[in-house]
Order: sequence, then structure tokens, then C-alpha cells
Amino acid sequence: MESRILTLITVSLLSLSAIVATSFALAQDNPIQLRQEKMKVVGKSIGTVSKMVKGETPFDGQLALAAFSDMQSAARGYDELFPKGTETGGNTEAAPAIWSDRSGFEAKHNEFLVVLDTVTETAPADTVALRTSLGQVGRQCSSCHETYRLKK
Ligand code: HEC
Repeated sequence: MESRILTLITVSLLSLSAIVATSFALAQDNPIQLRQEKMKVVGKSIGTVSKMVKGETPFDGQLALAAFSDMQSAARGYDELFPKGTETGGNTEAAPAIWSDRSGFEAKHNEFLVVLDTVTETAPADTVALRTSLGQVGRQCSSCHETYRLKK
């Protein structure tokens, strides 16, 4: 009886690890989807901050900091999700310039990380401070999209 339960547990653990391994492999195999998911997080986070700056939601320094931190985590490693062979497909909006000017793209990505490092140092004290941070971050979006994201 006991050994049957043990076998059962072992079998379910094995299939669980197989599922985990498969979804990891899928994400690895699908950089287009992964990079789009990362940008969705970035977009969602900037939405949280913009609403606060506009006064549509109450000011909350910790929540703003959390949003910038989410953005930072999503941005880390973003530039590695553009291997050869992912120039098209999956409804990608990645512009050919990413492949023809990789160092320019990496520099832009790096600038974005530097700004995110600054805005995640401490929670903003008030809306004025938050507006400044939002301005700094927002400039990064358009400055990269201009060259490296297709306008659809
Ligand atoms: C270093 C370059 C870079 C920076 C900086 C950047 N983006 Fe992007 N973004 C891209 C690229 C490239 C795509 C298209 C990727 C694809 O479709 O494969 C994209 C796509 C998106 C998308 C569409 C995601 C989807 O649904 O597929 C959103 C939303 C977005 N970016 C928001 C932002 C916001 C907001 C910021 C600034 C806070 C930002 N991005 C900063 C390069 C950048």
C-alpha cells in the first residue's frame, strides 16, 4: 500500500517536472512571445504610473515604485530575445533595424536600464517627483520605438 502511494507520488512529481520543463522550453523556443509579454508588463506598469500622475488614481509612492520595479525586471534581458530567425512571425512589431543595427539597439536598451535604475532607487515622495520620473522613463519608450519598433 505504502509503496503504491510512493509510486503515485513519484509519478506525479515526474510529470510535474516534465510540464515545468516543457513550458520553460516553449518560452525559450518562443522569444517573440516572451518579448511581447515583457513589453506588455512595461506597458501595464507605465499605465499605473500615468494614472497616478494624472490624478485618476490616488498617489501611492510604494505602488509607483513597485510599478517601476516590475518594469525593470521585465526590461532586464529584453535585448537577448531577438535571435536570428525571429525577424518575422508571431505578429512581431520588431523593426529590421534591430538586426541591422544591433549595437544601436543594445545601447538604447542599456539607456532604458540606466533610467530604470535611477527611478527604482527610492519611492517618489510626491506627484511632482513621480511626474519627473515618468517623463524620464517615457522618453525612453518613444526613443527606442521610433527606430526599433514597426509602426502598424
Ligand atoms: C530598447 C527598446 C525599447 C524600449 C526602451 C521600449 N520598448 Fe516597447 N517595444 C520595443 C520593441 C522592439 C517592440 C516590438 C517587439 C515585438 O513585437 O517583437 C515593443 C513593443 C511594445 C509594446 C507592444 C507589446 C505587445 O503587445 O506585443 C508595448 C505596449 C510597449 N512596447 C510599451 C513600451 C513602453 C511603455 C516603454 C517605455 C516605458 C517601452 N515600450 C520601451 C522596444 C522598446
